[in-house]
Amino acid sequence: MKANPITLTYTKNYVDRSREELLEAVRQVMSSKRFTHVRGVEQAALELADRYGADLEMVSIAALLHDYAKEQSDEEMRDMIISENMDLELLQYGNNIWHGPVAAVMAKERFNVEQTSILDAIRHHTVGSVNMDLVEQIIYLADFIEPNRSFKGVDKARALAENSLEEATAFATLLTIKHLIDKKVKIYPKAIETYNAWVVQ
Ligand SMILES: [Fe+2]
Ligand SMILES: [Fe+2]
Repeated sequence: MKANPITLTYTKNYVDRSREELLEAVRQVMSSKRFTHVRGVEQAALELADRYGADLEMVSIAALLHDYAKEQSDEEMRDMIISENMDLELLQYGNNIWHGPVAAVMAKERFNVEQTSILDAIRHHTVGSVNMDLVEQIIYLADFIEPNRSFKGVDKARALAENSLEEATAFATLLTIKHLIDKKVKIYPKAIETYNAWVVQ
C-alpha cells in the first residue's frame, strides 16, 4: 500500500463539492476510528481503480460516502427505508445491512450525487450484488482489504486483488458468508444472491 497522501482534484461534477469539503462533511458524522477506516477504503479503492482502469473520481466519492449513514440512529434509518420505498424485508435486519442503501439515498439528497455506479457502489458495499460493475467491485473489495483491516484471510484477499478483481470479490464474498454462518446469524437473501453469482462456479 502506498503511504503517499492522496492528491486528487474533482473536476467532473459527480458531487457538489471538492474532495476536501467532502472529507470534512464525512468526518463530521462519524467517530475518528471510522473516519480512519473510510480514508483507508479510499486509499485501497484508488489503488484498485488505478490498477483496473476505473474512474478515480467515482471511486473516491463512493469510498468517502460508503459509510456515511453508519452512525445514524436505527429510527432514522427505519424511517428512510419506509419513506424511500426500499425493500421492506430490510426491516428484519439492522444497521449492518441498512447503512449502505441509506447512505446511497443520502449521497443523492445531501451531496447531489446522481451517477448510478457511485450510488450502487455505496448501496451494495456490504451485501454486494449479482451484477456489480467495476466501481461497485472496487468499493466492495476496498472495504474488505483497506490497510486498517486485520482478520484471517485479509492477506489472501489483498494478494488476489493484485491479479483479479473477480477472484478477490468471490473470495471476499465466500469469507463473509462463512463468517455469518459461523456466527449463526440471519443472512439477508441478497447476500446469498451475491454468493450464488460470484462464488458458485
Ligand atoms: Fe459499511
Ligand atoms: Fe466500510
